[in-house]
Amino acid sequence: MINKEQLLEALKPLQEPRYNQSVVELNLVRDILIKEESVSLSLIVATEDEAYKETAKNFIREAIEQLGADQVHIRFRLMTDYERNQIEELNKPTSTASDKPKDSKPVQPPIDQPILGEASKVQFIAVASGKGGVGKSTVTVNLAVALARQGKKVGIIDADIYGFSIPDMMGIEEQPKLVDNVIMPVEKFGVKVISMGFFVQDNAPVIWRGPMLGKMLRNFFNEVNWGDVEYILLDLPPGTGDVALDVHQLIPQSKEVIVTTPHATAAFVAARAGAMAIQTNHEVLGIVENMSYYECKDCGSKDYVFGKGGGARLADDLHSELLAQIPLGAPDNHISEIDYSPSVYKQDSKTGQIYLDVAANIIAKLEK
Ligand SMILES: Nc1ncnc2c1ncn2[C@@H]1O[C@H](COP(=O)(O)OP(=O)(O)OP(=O)(O)O)[C@@H](O)[C@H]1O
Ligand SMILES: [Mg+2]
Repeated sequence: MINKEQLLEALKPLQEPRYNQSVVELNLVRDILIKEESVSLSLIVATEDEAYKETAKNFIREAIEQLGADQVHIRFRLMTDYERNQIEELNKPTSTASDKPKDSKPVQPPIDQPILGEASKVQFIAVASGKGGVGKSTVTVNLAVALARQGKKVGIIDADIYGFSIPDMMGIEEQPKLVDNVIMPVEKFGVKVISMGFFVQDNAPVIWRGPMLGKMLRNFFNEVNWGDVEYILLDLPPGTGDVALDVHQLIPQSKEVIVTTPHATAAFVAARAGAMAIQTNHEVLGIVENMSYYECKDCGSKDYVFGKGGGARLADDLHSELLAQIPLGAPDNHISEIDYSPSVYKQDSKTGQIYLDVAANIIAKLEK
């Protein structure tokens, strides 16, 4: 059966004439319903241009029939003012950091070091999972800090645009600054961080949709001065949705680390994230099994509270390596400490050491 990703991919070449952009990138293909061999969808149009509607109808029908559907239903709907504003916002030059002066010029990309450019030597590592809440963000943060502790220049892009959490987890209270109209990431524990969280006031919910998400993500790459970073870790939202797909398409060279818990179901769901990486030709560097066991502080015995073996099985399924098994336990940090963070394990703690080993392993893999 056709899936939504295939369908959107096939419709990408169709351009909305008013904006000269792909209807998929503008998020104009809606209400997709796929049943067996029948597909129905709505296409949002900017104007009632009958010629374009006819062209679009033929294009969509042909593209979907080529994917194997034999019934295609297309409805057209005129864009609402709200949707039009959203697109126009999206196409405006970025205005972000809160201390930006009113009369400043649009943000210019730091063209001397585009991290997505061909000459870029930056190693991208996307941290993915099938399910939410398995510890992706915790792993991203601690792996980044561990790489920095080994002398690497590291950045994090918090690509979980709706569910951003990295600034809080690292205890970051600063905001990024604009220098020469370019956004400077905030640095903590030697790691440069950029997150949607910096641009949202008072923890307001983020209600942007498809195209805005993509645009924001691109800004994180192109309009942020990453300096001479060697590694960029991307904290993906859980699952195999639009943002994960966007990241795969935007950074074809990105490698991937998959996080799971030891529970069989989590590992099974994580396999889908792995399959997505493989389908899009992204090398899986390995699996991190998080919350693997609880170790008794007094007797040292291990209690496998969430079951056993999920990480190893997943590594096997994906022909990859189990990089680490991280025990249950919050970092031993206290709010009174100077460099307080809720989620970063200290270097000399057991978990801190495990992350150092994972970082060393990854450096060895990528710099061989
Ligand atoms: N090894 C661990 N021991 C104890 N608590 C942990 C461990 N790893 C993560 N946690 C906690 O579990 C919760 C979920 O972790 P985290 O936010 O890193 O997961 P996530 O996969 O990024 O979630 P989401 O899908 O919501 O982005 C957090 O409260 C985190 O502090
Ligand atoms: Mg997270």
